[in-house]
Amino acid sequence: MIKPHGSDKLIPLFVGDPDQRQRLLEEAESLPKLLLDSASAANAVMLGAGYFTPLKGYMNLADALSVAKNMKTSSGLFWPVPCLNRTNDIEAIEGVKRIALLDPNIPGNPVLAIQDIKAVEEISEADLKVMTEQTFGTLDSNHPGVATFMAAGKYIISGPIQVLNFSYFEKDFPETFRSAVQIREEIKARNWDTVVAFQTRNPMHRAHEELCKMAKEAVHADGVLIHMLLGKLKKGDIPANVRDAAIRKMVELYFPANTVMITGYGFDMLYAGPREALLHAVFRQNAGCSHFIVGRDHAGVGDYYGPFDAQEIFKTIPEGVLEIKIFNADHTAYSRKLNKVVMMRDVPDHTPEDFVILSGTKVREMLAAGEPLPEEFARPEVAKILMGYYMSETANN
Ligand code: ADX
Repeated sequence: MIKPHGSDKLIPLFVGDPDQRQRLLEEAESLPKLLLDSASAANAVMLGAGYFTPLKGYMNLADALSVAKNMKTSSGLFWPVPCLNRTNDIEAIEGVKRIALLDPNIPGNPVLAIQDIKAVEEISEADLKVMTEQTFGTLDSNHPGVATFMAAGKYIISGPIQVLNFSYFEKDFPETFRSAVQIREEIKARNWDTVVAFQTRNPMHRAHEELCKMAKEAVHADGVLIHMLLGKLKKGDIPANVRDAAIRKMVELYFPANTVMITGYGFDMLYAGPREALLHAVFRQNAGCSHFIVGRDHAGVGDYYGPFDAQEIFKTIPEGVLEIKIFNADHTAYSRKLNKVVMMRDVPDHTPEDFVILSGTKVREMLAAGEPLPEEFARPEVAKILMGYYMSETANN
């Protein structure tokens, strides 16, 4: 199986031994406490699950700046997005060496992890701007990822962590949330060698279904890993449970048995386009996948990024820093002429009118009004699940 990023073995920071975990939970009771923000908590979950191998904890300011500017840590490790613990409230942890990190996403704020503090550093306004602009490509506060990143705490708390649970992801998505460790185990158990990963934060329509099938065929993969984001999204995005149900239905009805693993990871969406695509590739390599699909406007939002910027950025990174191979997908849509889903680059004779393309807004409007989506666009069983969600949303608002 493909090696993890920057390491011979996966480094999950989750404390697997139940006795040790219990001892740490008891120790946490007497430690000074810090309530995390959601982004920092999501980083802990990713570190715990092995997806962020070989990181051992949260970055310091020098590493975060180096990652933002040069996509590598001070020690030279390729990494595309700062992995930070940020807060405005350092009163309780001043001069302290070890702290308990509290989960902001579970009522009662239970302990999520324990951190050894290496440094507490204040980010200057100038450094914050550099970090934001380099990571997101913009400082526009209308960008949801920029808004969240700019508003997060001005202190960076760096140091290694021990993760004690996977926040709300295990309980809320027991069938879907999987650590990188578990995915590697399952790939091994299925005897798969070549595995193509598909990132998604949306339900999957015909174009996405075919995209996975085309990629699988093109790279001669044994299987597809559908790997969905289960964390926080911007307003208007479809919640993970609805998307999960829609994807499961699609796979059940329209994929050959035993060719797809439906899984998810606990991270908040950054909407950082190209940089997030790189991060996505890193953690799919850590999950044991040989290939990763990057299509149109990957991890994008609005028109902050060009439709294929997320593919271009892979050409700018040094050869060999990632072992996972990228499957670059062109805009995919149903062709009225050929009566099937195609990649636009494969049908140069087509005009825009030859494709069935619906904007996200149009899809939402139709579903909310109880209008069925064209079968060329969405599988009817998938559309039905989405319609149920939109109609209840409309009724509740
Ligand atoms: S993302 O934010 O998670 O990237 P989304 O779930 O919409 O958003 O997309 C999942 C993957 O499918 C991404 O790699 C994206 O580039 C790709 N994709 C989505 N729609 C299309 C399409 N019509 N043509 C080609 N690629 C697409």
